[in-house]
Amino acid sequence: MRDFHPDDDVASPEGYAPQMSPDDYDPGIPNQLLDFILRSEPSEPIDTDLFAVMKKRRSTRKFSDKPVETTKIDKIIAAADTAPTAGNFQGFEIFYVKSLEKKRALVDACNHQSYVDAPIVLVFCKNPSRVKFNFPPYVLRKFAIQDATLAAGYSQLAAQAMGLSSIWIGMFDEQKIMDILETTLVPSSVLCIGYPKQTKFPKSRRNLKDLVNVVW
Ligand SMILES: Cc1cc2nc3c(=O)[nH]c(=O)nc-3n(C[C@H](O)[C@H](O)[C@H](O)COP(=O)(O)O)c2cc1C
Repeated sequence: MRDFHPDDDVASPEGYAPQMSPDDYDPGIPNQLLDFILRSEPSEPIDTDLFAVMKKRRSTRKFSDKPVETTKIDKIIAAADTAPTAGNFQGFEIFYVKSLEKKRALVDACNHQSYVDAPIVLVFCKNPSRVKFNFPPYVLRKFAIQDATLAAGYSQLAAQAMGLSSIWIGMFDEQKIMDILETTLVPSSVLCIGYPKQTKFPKSRRNLKDLVNVVW
């Protein structure tokens, strides 16, 4: 596999170079990044027991400086791209924030939450204009927020499966984030990912009877 060059005619954005060479790019393949990952030799151990991954996940706000491997970033992004979306219109976009300066600005935009400058920062934004249903705009916005939320959830679990931890940020100033990202798309969540400084036990949850309402 030859090295990827950012100028190559591959459908990946400038600044994000997946471990996929231009030769691997086939627009006919749905979710080409995931397809490439599955065809490649495994690059890291992955916990494939979904329920074990769910059980272990615990929000982390302290990340080590250890950089996250590109192959893991690829998988986190590919996972988001597998999530269901309304009408398969994929009404969301991911902003992969690499600049330290912009990460620091995001800390401020996220109510001064200092850990937002994590090794990997992904901002999931709604894009209702992609949702081509003939429904009122508020419905399209509702679909887009669900699309973006679900995709971020998939990424969060994928990160966990590879030994990474994450924190979901929902407390932010939308306009500040839009200004930082220079976009008109409204953010839905900020997902901060990295290697945890320490592994913590998962938090407890409520009783089943407080969770489930049975409707006869
Ligand atoms: C919609 C939503 C918004 C959240 N916003 C924040 C946030 O702004 N800052 C933060 O530190 N954690 C935030 N969290 C993380 C929660 O605090 C965390 O998921 C919760 O305490 C449960 O812990 P666990 O993820 O370890 O199970 C948010 C989580 C969700 C789902």
